[in-house]
Amino acid sequence: MIDPYCIAGPFIRFLNPETAHDLVIGALRAGLVPSPKSFESSLLKQSVWGRPFSNPIGLAAGFDKNAQAVDPMLAQGFGFVEVGSVTPQAQAGNARPRLFRLPSDNAVINRLGFNNDGIDKVASRLEARARKGIVGVNLGKNKETKDAISDYREGMLRLAPLADYIVINVSSPNTPGLRSLQRREPLQTLLESVLQARWQVAPKNPPPLLLKIAPDLGEEDKSDIAQVSLKTGIDGLIATNTTIERPKSLIDKNARESGGLSGQPLLEPSTRVLSEMYKLTAGRIPLIGVGGVASGADAYAKIKAGATLVQFYSAMVFYGPGRVQMIKRDLATLLAADGFSSISEAIGSDHS
Ligand SMILES: Cc1cc2nc3c(=O)[nH]c(=O)nc-3n(C[C@H](O)[C@H](O)[C@H](O)COP(=O)(O)O)c2cc1C
Repeated sequence: MIDPYCIAGPFIRFLNPETAHDLVIGALRAGLVPSPKSFESSLLKQSVWGRPFSNPIGLAAGFDKNAQAVDPMLAQGFGFVEVGSVTPQAQAGNARPRLFRLPSDNAVINRLGFNNDGIDKVASRLEARARKGIVGVNLGKNKETKDAISDYREGMLRLAPLADYIVINVSSPNTPGLRSLQRREPLQTLLESVLQARWQVAPKNPPPLLLKIAPDLGEEDKSDIAQVSLKTGIDGLIATNTTIERPKSLIDKNARESGGLSGQPLLEPSTRVLSEMYKLTAGRIPLIGVGGVASGADAYAKIKAGATLVQFYSAMVFYGPGRVQMIKRDLATLLAADGFSSISEAIGSDHS
């Protein structure tokens, strides 16, 4: 089947990136994007946190912030979809323009600033769907909130019953002060409090709690995060969010825009952080690897570095959602070529 993005892509890329994004979400909601015949392979199946993942390739947070296109994206072949970041109150985010393509670098810069519809709207959209497929919910804090912990607790209390996993996002560069929550003491207090809220709302079947980290962390921060994660007993880490670094290799005219950089230039640095976190946590908690994935080989590199699951977003801006099929097919080929009979055997194999 011809990938419809081959036809629509050039028109979409002609539009301003935020308009293009809204148009794609609208088309997905309206059922205008056909679902491909999904590539399935027993090599790609695994159980994580007691949940069955048909494949390890997920949609990263930020594409479907408001849970408007969960089922259409699952139907595109993603093994799981992460919605958000969602904050307790709806907020408009930063002034436009705030989303930039860097086509010469296969990259994106965004300074959206958690524009989203708020937890009530997101909760009602999640409530309205049949609970089929794996859906994570990524939580943020409102810009004006002084007590960050209360925002994350509120997100957990409202959305835990509707999520297959919950993410605490303390790594977006576009909310002032957010990333300082990655430091040892505030992080421990935050995680303990959110875990307590989870216990309160879902004592029987608590959704796994994950922490999403930045790629721009010092050695001490990474070691502290690993220790706090193991000590508090959270269930996983997502490495990484976008970077505030601007590699010298960037050539696109938009490279100097402020915000978080994602896409190809993030692949190597984010895989390095993932690998370090795997070592620092001794492989004891599942990691989701995200940053710069655009091919089966990129996903495989993350898995060998220690990722149990992988996500992507920016590659979709350039290649459309059909990319997930290609990534899955190539990943299965690479696993088989190296003699693995299941993805679980390949996780962290760089370290053995
Ligand atoms: C436009 C845009 C919006 C994003 N919004 C969020 C967000 O709300 N919450 C979050 O945790 N990550 C967000 N991200 C980060 C992605 O989830 C991902 O971690 C990052 O882009 C690296 O992956 P990629 O190189 O495949 O895009 C956003 C990324 C982009 C490009």
